[in-house]
Amino acid sequence: MQRRAFIRAAAAGLAGAPLLRLPSRRAPFRTVLIGTGWWGMNILRTALASRLVRVAGLCDVDRRHLDAAQTEIDALTGTRPAVYEDYRELLESERPDIAIVATPDHWHALCAIAAIRRGAHVYLEKPICHTLDEGKAILAAARDQDRVVQVGTHRRVSPHNMSAMRFLRSGSVGDIGMVRAFVHYGGGPGSVTPDSQPPEGLNWDLWCGPAPYRPFNARIHPRGFRQYLDYANGQLGDWGIHWLDQVLWWTEERFPHTVYSTGGRHVKADGTDAPDTQVATFSFASFTATWEHRLYAANRAERTNIGCYFYGTRGTLHLGWRDGWTFYPSRQADPEVHEAAELDAPDDQNIRALWDDFIRAINTGSRPVCDIDHGYRATAMCLLAMISLRTGRSLSWDGEQGRILGDVEAATMMRRPYREPWVYPEV
Ligand SMILES: NC(=O)c1ccc[n+]([C@@H]2O[C@H](COP(=O)([O-])OP(=O)(O)OC[C@H]3O[C@@H](n4cnc5c(N)ncnc54)[C@H](O)[C@@H]3O)[C@@H](O)[C@H]2O)c1
Repeated sequence: MQRRAFIRAAAAGLAGAPLLRLPSRRAPFRTVLIGTGWWGMNILRTALASRLVRVAGLCDVDRRHLDAAQTEIDALTGTRPAVYEDYRELLESERPDIAIVATPDHWHALCAIAAIRRGAHVYLEKPICHTLDEGKAILAAARDQDRVVQVGTHRRVSPHNMSAMRFLRSGSVGDIGMVRAFVHYGGGPGSVTPDSQPPEGLNWDLWCGPAPYRPFNARIHPRGFRQYLDYANGQLGDWGIHWLDQVLWWTEERFPHTVYSTGGRHVKADGTDAPDTQVATFSFASFTATWEHRLYAANRAERTNIGCYFYGTRGTLHLGWRDGWTFYPSRQADPEVHEAAELDAPDDQNIRALWDDFIRAINTGSRPVCDIDHGYRATAMCLLAMISLRTGRSLSWDGEQGRILGDVEAATMMRRPYREPWVYPEV
């Protein structure tokens, strides 16, 4: 099958089929980590606990993170892994079996594609990319090279999310015509952090990489890049993907046909530029999904600040995070049904089960639970909403072809120029 035909077949729903030409691998897997910050080290610790990996190398553009990671891995394993500032040198020298990519979002595509092309299976953090065409290129590379790419949307392996899906599919909620996904946090306008010199040991030019260069600001790095649109896609790209992925997991439809978003920066005055208020609507053939976030208003008026409400003819199911899930039947006389969350320390997420599934997929040559196709489609929902927010228009989406229909300006926003010498990945 031609590569493009294969990608179309995968996009048409054959993503569960076994991989085609996967050579068998055996533990210990030579594993590298690209991005040794907060979440990357969480994943690597989990990987080490599985006793199936050997850390072959670490890569970061911030020497402080890299040195701390090397020291910790030495203490955990008795071996000091090699360290690199440039992921291309890491991949060239170490030729890993597995690469974990946990950089800020604007680097995901280049790092993941380079690792796949070097023959590595990839554990890639969400959102899978910063602009839509990058996502298509990652999906194409993964299929072309028959590599397993597991995306970090671990809610697909969290026990209470799995049982909620069984409950929804059992028909107990009735016919569902609407899903409302949301994350609301408190906080006020905040204050501006002045730009400064990058700290000693941080290669700020390389941190910015293909994205626009801007002066270093301690609010951006580490971890704060999420609220800067040059490097991420705000709360929708950071949190929205988790919950929109739950919507895609539940429905048998593969993508929305129309996306609209509105919002803005109504309260925040802290130098960030992502919307502090956003509403998005996603029209599917058989239901409507919405996304909402606010970054400044803790909300005690409603029962929860996070999750998805599935509205059905028999009642409403709230699928949450730390608060598990609860079904509120329509009939007053019927009892509520509740299931508590089972989450792993230290961050109340379930990356252990996701890592185990990643290894299972590598060993068996099958698709992982959070396959890149799922990650691409969930990320696409977020990025389409961001394009709609920028244009102020509703977008028609041909998810099968990966095209915005009838809007040339919006279609050009599916990619962006890269800063030299970086080259935008092509499908
Ligand atoms: N799945 C989840 O629930 C979850 C949770 C948290 C974070 N994440 C994702 O993990 C990623 C990292 O987030 P974080 O909070 O750990 O950020 P962080 O700032 O703590 O870590 C990112 C690290 O990447 C490094 N980096 C930047 N450019 C690099 C490059 N070219 N090569 C190597 N390293 C580079 C940075 O210096 C930093 O050390 C994000 O994409 C985020 O969305 C996912």
